[in-house]
Amino acid sequence: MIELNVLSRFYMREEVMFTDPAPNFNFDPHSAEFAADPYTTYAAMRAIDMPYYWEEADTWMLTKMADVEAVALNKNMLRNNEAFVSEIDRKEQQRAINFHDMPYHERYVQVNLLESEGETHSRLRKVVFREFTPAMISRQREAIQTFVDGLLEELSDQNEIDFVSDFAAHVPGHIIGRVLGVPDEDAPKLRHWSEEVVRFFDPGREDADKARAEFATKEFYEYLLDLLATREAALQDDLLSRLIGHRDAGQLSQDELISTAMLILMAGHGSTIDVLGSGMHALLRFPDQNQRLRDDAALMKTAVQEMFRFESPLPYFHRFATEETEVGGRKFPAGTRFGLLYGAANHDPVRFDNPDKFDVGRSPNRHLAFGGGGHFCLGNHLARLDMDVIFSSINARFSGIELADTKVEYKRGLSVRGPKALRMGWKRA
Ligand code: HEM
Repeated sequence: MIELNVLSRFYMREEVMFTDPAPNFNFDPHSAEFAADPYTTYAAMRAIDMPYYWEEADTWMLTKMADVEAVALNKNMLRNNEAFVSEIDRKEQQRAINFHDMPYHERYVQVNLLESEGETHSRLRKVVFREFTPAMISRQREAIQTFVDGLLEELSDQNEIDFVSDFAAHVPGHIIGRVLGVPDEDAPKLRHWSEEVVRFFDPGREDADKARAEFATKEFYEYLLDLLATREAALQDDLLSRLIGHRDAGQLSQDELISTAMLILMAGHGSTIDVLGSGMHALLRFPDQNQRLRDDAALMKTAVQEMFRFESPLPYFHRFATEETEVGGRKFPAGTRFGLLYGAANHDPVRFDNPDKFDVGRSPNRHLAFGGGGHFCLGNHLARLDMDVIFSSINARFSGIELADTKVEYKRGLSVRGPKALRMGWKRA
């Protein structure tokens, strides 16, 4: 439960000093209550008249669409603070958040397209975006359809499944893997490595998580080195072969090639599994919307958009201010770290009518589930195509879908959002 306490609160962090009366509530993103329903907490945070200072992460949390969007679009807000923090201070900060003494992670995960800015970011983004156009993605439709049909066929004799582990978990490794050029049989390894690495981004990380994240990065790196050697011997029609071409043309280094391949394989992995699970859960929680979509397949595009808005699978990212900046009507000094709660902004009633309603026909639906500005998601077309093919195929093949267990637990933490399991019954249509 959120305890609202109207006592005046004194906020102080270096030069930032506010004495506004601000409600004090228990913001505990690691708790079971938050996992069950983060939106009530987000609404309480939005109700205070300023960003909320989260001491544990030394971060000013933004929940209003206007603030989140303004910071995401602001070119002076960067994902890393290298430009204005000395190497010694940066090392100290890495140590404070337990992001140190992990050589593989530091080299291939902490430094990549997503984590870079300026010239490096523009150069890498140009190389990768040239290969990831909407046209290239729509050419994947047939392969995705074939894969999804095969997987659904395998499950169609089972009257009850866990939609997350039996179905969703198999999807992204195969699809993103295929785009990149990873053999189908290696897809389960991608899932394991991605989960170990991505989990480590949640604040409150323990040493045991750190050891697992480092080990997974090392294994992932060694796997990619072998795969690169195979491709170098015989280039194929896949993204990895084209990235090798760009490396040989001097457009990116070997380290950048490996970190980019890792990022592409990881960025859309857990998020695709999570949004498949939460999207299905939303349809089952709101049977009128499910029926509406079944009656009118033309609603699939808006339904998919709504699934991303309603339970954004990657709800939290951050930025650093490179200069004094006004956010939410307050001035913050250079170096301030802001938390972009995309998941909260996507439930802001100022942008969305009745934001806690799941509406498969919602339009317009200008949400931030894929971010905004310079780091806008590379894989958004692929992610939306996957969902479109999957939910259309399920609706065509199955009927009588219902929750077999109505107690659906969501994962704990701030950085990811999705159900741990989703037991449901279905039968061939
Ligand atoms: C399935 C759902 C997905 C969601 C919700 C999602 C969400 C996001 C978000 C919010 C960002 C921006 C991060 C920021 O603001 O700092 C982002 C960036 C990115 N995403 Fe996705 N993503 C998804 C799928 C994918 C897929 C399938 C791929 C690759 C195939 C991918 C690749 C990337 C990359 C490379 C970036 C970094 C872009 C840059 O920094 O310029 N994502 N994603």
